[in-house]
Amino acid sequence: MQKDAPHIRSFVIRQTRMSDYQRRSFDTLYADYAVPLSREESTREEILAAFPGCDSLVVEIGFGMGEATIELAERLPQTAFLGIEVHKPGVGKLLGELESRSLSNVRVIREDAMVVLEQMIAPAVLDGVHVFFPDPWPKKRHHKRRLVRPGFTAMVGRALRPGAYVYLTTDVREYAEHMLDVIGPDDEFFENPSGGFCKPLPWRPRTAFERKGLARSHEIFEIFLRRRGSETD
Ligand SMILES: C[S@@+](CC[C@H](N)C(=O)[O-])C[C@H]1O[C@@H](n2cnc3c(N)ncnc32)[C@H](O)[C@@H]1O
Repeated sequence: MQKDAPHIRSFVIRQTRMSDYQRRSFDTLYADYAVPLSREESTREEILAAFPGCDSLVVEIGFGMGEATIELAERLPQTAFLGIEVHKPGVGKLLGELESRSLSNVRVIREDAMVVLEQMIAPAVLDGVHVFFPDPWPKKRHHKRRLVRPGFTAMVGRALRPGAYVYLTTDVREYAEHMLDVIGPDDEFFENPSGGFCKPLPWRPRTAFERKGLARSHEIFEIFLRRRGSETD
């Protein structure tokens, strides 16, 4: 993420058992729903070509089991959702749902989102990025694994069009405050219109991870950022 810094992954691949449904869905549908990205940067037009009828492009980093993805995709049929997730059971689950609901505005990639954003898509192609409840990595020695870390705004900012947004949520206060520190009021790439945490936006679906936090009476923190700059920059 930072030039010359070692790439520290924000995830570990968990050896979770896949249900038969998830495995079958993954094995039979991934090729159909995978977005055709390679190590060469794809342009906005090339990516949108995989989503007929869509005119805006939103990435979701770490969609988990994909419930929020499905809910938004059904509500916003003209928005292309590119879901990035490394956890295979979650990818399988989402693929099965996409097929059973005949949704054509979601595509997935099972890949490290940092690699996708840094290497696979051209600058200034996205209209939004959702990061709903990223792994909190609560132990101090693991903080370096957090997705939102120094360099995060440059990585995401590069991929976003001027005026585009990033929506971050977490139920861990300490991580939420760390996010605000990383972003900072003078961030080169983003402005934070609310100056700190914001109210939940009415369109944001509740996620599986969020429900677990709420069941434990966790407070939810929301950060909504706008990419600085104008189309003519
Ligand atoms: C705590 S879960 C939250 C899942 C979902 N957003 C929710 O709210 O229910 C975080 C997810 O992010 C995924 N993840 C973490 N780092 C990632 C990365 N660099 N690229 C893709 N997925 C990642 C993990 O596999 C995990 O499923």
